[in-house]
Amino acid sequence: MKIAIHHTKGTFSARWIAYCKQEQIPYKIVDCYKNDIMQQLHDCSALMWHYHHASATSTLFAKQLMYAVAATGKKIFPDFNTAWHFDDKVGQKYLLEAIGAPLVPSFVFYTKPAALDWISTTGFPKVFKLRGGSSSDNVYLVKSRQHAIRLVNKAFGKGFKHYHGWSNFKERVRKYKNGISSVYEVFKGFIRIFYTTDFAKMAGREKGYAYFQEFIDNNDCDIRIIVVGDKAFAIKRMVRENDFRASGSGSILYDKNFFEINTVKLAFDITIVLKAQCLAYDFVYKNGKPLIIEISYGFAREAYDPCEGYWDKELNWHAGKFVPQNWMVELMLSR
Ligand SMILES: Nc1ncnc2c1ncn2[C@@H]1O[C@H](COP(=O)(O)OP(=O)(O)O)[C@@H](O)[C@H]1O
Ligand SMILES: [Mg+2]
Repeated sequence: MKIAIHHTKGTFSARWIAYCKQEQIPYKIVDCYKNDIMQQLHDCSALMWHYHHASATSTLFAKQLMYAVAATGKKIFPDFNTAWHFDDKVGQKYLLEAIGAPLVPSFVFYTKPAALDWISTTGFPKVFKLRGGSSSDNVYLVKSRQHAIRLVNKAFGKGFKHYHGWSNFKERVRKYKNGISSVYEVFKGFIRIFYTTDFAKMAGREKGYAYFQEFIDNNDCDIRIIVVGDKAFAIKRMVRENDFRASGSGSILYDKNFFEINTVKLAFDITIVLKAQCLAYDFVYKNGKPLIIEISYGFAREAYDPCEGYWDKELNWHAGKFVPQNWMVELMLSR
């Protein structure tokens, strides 16, 4: 039986296909957007699709399709335990609280009075986030009660845009100045000031809830540990200048000595409890203790290629290059 792979440029799929070719693993390219996807899968024992949170159409149906396929006994990547909470920080809050994982203390409110009540009793600063998004796009430091009230009014009023053309443009200029982005990217950002993204158009405004976290200060980076099956690797992402946000900064360090083995073990342990195939954990530290900011099955590809090695589940270090996408294919072959 074959592994079905949905191929999209710029996702994991090119590497999955390359690995199947290299290892002579039978595979077939399928198109999950076509109405006959179930027929396409008739000779396949697994389906792999790296759907992206910023793809407007795939977020309409990717999880539904994948879990329907899994209901027939076929393997899928990402599977339910790995992905139901993808791009959903509110879902992650419930999940991590449920299993007693060390989450940054997080607070969600579904009515304005409930949010305002909490604001009147809590201290600041706090962090305010939308449940979805990446690269720190929808993450704000809330320095005062007044600021929190403004955000809550917006959350239960006109809501938040998913795309901010001007700040996105400024971020591209910052990256260009730091030598981590091209003029072309700046140009694309300029055009995007006037034309929002398809995703933002389709998703409309985000509203109806307010999500805050404790602000964990004194972190000049976050530590991302990614577990795929029984292996793990890590990167250290530095925060932007005069900012507290690391995700998407493009400033990444790889030296193994940056990573505490206890945090790697914690990521392995949580993955086992969650029965997940693949999860990236973003940690900040408070008094030396790791706290999870968010989890995600998806991650960028090239940013991890310079990693100097990985840990196995016994926490032994294996120095050398590796391709984590190959491990995902292996997960489809194991029983
Ligand atoms: N509660 C927090 N305390 C301190 N820093 C935080 C907190 N939440 C987020 N950050 C910082 O902001 C960045 C982006 O936040 P995150 O919730 O991971 O959003 P995104 O999904 O955009 O990556 C993180 O990489 C981290 O550096
Ligand atoms: Mg993040």
